[in-house]
Amino acid sequence: MPVITTIEDLRRIYARRAPRMFYDYCESGSWTEQTFRDNVSDFAGIRLRQRVAVDMEGRSTASTMIGQDVAMPVALAPVGLTGMQSADGEIKAARAAEKFGVPFTLSTMSICSIEDVAAHTTKPFWFQLYVMRDEDFVARILQRAKDARCSALVLTLDLQILGQRHKDLKNGLSAPPKPTLRTMANLATKWGWGLEMLGTKRRFFGNIVGHAKGVSDASSLTDWTAEQFDPSLDWDKVRRLKEQWGGKLILKGILDEEDARRAADVGADAIVVSNHGGRQLDGALSSIRALPGIVRAVGDQVEVHFDGGIRSGQDVLKALALGAKGTYIGRAFVYGLGAMGEAGVTRALEVIHKELDTTMALCGRKSVAALDRDILLVPEDFEGRWA
Ligand SMILES: Cc1cc2nc3c(=O)[nH]c(=O)nc-3n(C[C@H](O)[C@H](O)[C@H](O)COP(=O)(O)O)c2cc1C
Repeated sequence: MPVITTIEDLRRIYARRAPRMFYDYCESGSWTEQTFRDNVSDFAGIRLRQRVAVDMEGRSTASTMIGQDVAMPVALAPVGLTGMQSADGEIKAARAAEKFGVPFTLSTMSICSIEDVAAHTTKPFWFQLYVMRDEDFVARILQRAKDARCSALVLTLDLQILGQRHKDLKNGLSAPPKPTLRTMANLATKWGWGLEMLGTKRRFFGNIVGHAKGVSDASSLTDWTAEQFDPSLDWDKVRRLKEQWGGKLILKGILDEEDARRAADVGADAIVVSNHGGRQLDGALSSIRALPGIVRAVGDQVEVHFDGGIRSGQDVLKALALGAKGTYIGRAFVYGLGAMGEAGVTRALEVIHKELDTTMALCGRKSVAALDRDILLVPEDFEGRWA
């Protein structure tokens, strides 16, 4: 058993274990991948203030996100096809999150269905919606999420059309994989993954197949997205969906201060500063650079959450200190899942928790509530001077 001390350790094991098609799906951004890279590298520009001789006894990373208690403010982000990274992946990740005491968000494009995840967990999870052209489908899936006691709706606003990720097209990404010569040659080297996958029936988009009418090919994310995702989604529709849902609402994919104000006007419970992990608009600002301006614009009106590029507890701490009330990890938990299943997700959360707790202490703070801009050294031009 290897000694795992970082998220990068998990990524390396995951890269060996998962089929190339699914590893590439996770580990890529759109077009030149500039935003995907910046999301991670821009964290390094921020440094920390070392403080000493502060009583560190009785520290805690506990906090709340949209009024819900969390062991640390780090939720699992919605990630499509998670059940292809490891058999029954959404169930495994949801269970790990539940045991750790952090929220799990189920993607519309999951392999395990809402009902399946609900049946294998005991606490409410969050459901992420991609708005579809088919309003009946949307009404039914919202009802299904309510019936499954989902405690928040995460409405994703930055994917009305799909950003192009070259590798997915070249690999012929689909769920389950289509048996081409190239794919079969790669799968033959991934026997651990394959054996687990043979043991489950969950190999299709569980929220879609059998629920959406007139779907020509639900195995191809790219085709299906082009066919079904609603390009006409606007703020009026967001308001209507808020009414239709009637519960806690988190608007995900905000990167612009003007959009943040619109989202706050809608009356969302939280917004997520996010560029979809650099998978949509390549060339957009990294999430961490966009965060301070958005906190200044709407931080007193709506809870500001953050995702994009988090690979350590130090990254979490930096986002919190810049004003985020909560954060999400996408790839960091997928690396764990693909490497070691449920135990790997738990390990990813443990690594991040340890890093967050230790860094908090060495910066002289005992609680999440006490984290503020004062513990950071931020370059004067960090947000950039853009014309
Ligand atoms: C493989 C993958 C699939 C994703 N699928 C979804 C999705 O179905 N719905 C969604 O709202 N966001 C999706 N995202 C975006 C994540 O929710 C999140 O915004 C992003 O992963 C954060 O960046 P990070 O991976 O650097 O933590 C996906 C991200 C990845 C990496």
